[in-house]
Amino acid sequence: MTRGEHAVVTGGAGFVGSHLVDRLLEDGFRVTSIDNYGSGRRENLEHLSDEAGFTELEHDIREPLPEFKNVDQIYHFASRASPADFKSHAIEIAQTNSQGTRNVYDLAIEHYAQLVIASTSEIYGDPEVHPQSEEYSGNVNVRGPRAPYDESKRFAEALAVAYAQRYEFDARILRIFNTYGPRMRNDDGRVIPNFLSQAIQGKDLTVYGDGTQTRSFCYVDDLVEGIRRIGGAESERVANTVFNIGHTHEITINTLAETVLDTVDTSSEIVHIDRPTEDPDYRQPNIDRIQSTLDWEPTVDLHTGLDRTISYFERELGAMTPDS
Ligand SMILES: NC(=O)c1ccc[n+]([C@@H]2O[C@H](COP(=O)([O-])OP(=O)(O)OC[C@H]3O[C@@H](n4cnc5c(N)ncnc54)[C@H](O)[C@@H]3O)[C@@H](O)[C@H]2O)c1
Repeated sequence: MTRGEHAVVTGGAGFVGSHLVDRLLEDGFRVTSIDNYGSGRRENLEHLSDEAGFTELEHDIREPLPEFKNVDQIYHFASRASPADFKSHAIEIAQTNSQGTRNVYDLAIEHYAQLVIASTSEIYGDPEVHPQSEEYSGNVNVRGPRAPYDESKRFAEALAVAYAQRYEFDARILRIFNTYGPRMRNDDGRVIPNFLSQAIQGKDLTVYGDGTQTRSFCYVDDLVEGIRRIGGAESERVANTVFNIGHTHEITINTLAETVLDTVDTSSEIVHIDRPTEDPDYRQPNIDRIQSTLDWEPTVDLHTGLDRTISYFERELGAMTPDS
């Protein structure tokens, strides 16, 4: 295939980033992944080792970025995203989303490249408005345990506003709500990898608190489709605009745990443990904007998505057992 435009993906070895790299290659781009392999894994890109259009760079985006001859599009996905890392890697996360993001924006300016930025539903904090639309400015504790992630993602959005005021800048911002699928790490710490790993290994499923808190889970293929629609849209319609992206089917964590137990053949049971401080009560996106602008909506239901993810985790966890 003749390769056309050059896309740079930061965080390309991560869960979402690696699926996006696959999709961009399928769509005919030359692709460069930049990743420091902090939470991402080389295995996520191993299948591309003979792919002529693909380059893998080990680099920390907090440091000045490598020189490129040309860059057409940048997909900025580098940042640890697991709440399990918010304390242990707080400084790294805050610097990645501030200094690292600045380096990425400067690369975009240098090459007049179009940019898609991974923001997050976390910028809404513990929302007082439900579901959350893009106009809602959030309820975030600047001194709370999640602040290094939440506030640095908010800063990344604010810096995009500043760049758009000063430069010719075409950034499309996606506020991503909980997404899951193959290539998440089984020790990632997010709820679906937690429950699936526990169920497959016959351990009890640890529900935080009483389990009545809600989330809406989007399968990764749907997210990647949305990312590409944003990346492929004309500037006039989407430049410097924020879009929520995620599934609107909201369920309690108890329901998720029961669904996992119904789906995986296991003897595990549900146990309740202390709830982390400032774990949000509700999460459900209002996706009217992305629906009406780009005709995007999620298509994969939870059972289908879980089945695909369970197969992946069974292979991963099976491979870790010496006598399997
Ligand atoms: N998966 C979700 O549910 C979700 C929800 C909201 C937002 N997001 C955002 O999407 C992006 C990808 O998330 P993910 O779930 O794939 O997480 P992930 O941890 O699997 O991927 C992040 C990638 O970024 C890399 N990285 C982190 N800091 C870096 C640095 N300083 N320099 C270079 N590489 C670095 C990691 O090694 C990893 O490969 C993140 O920006 C995250 O905030 C994800």
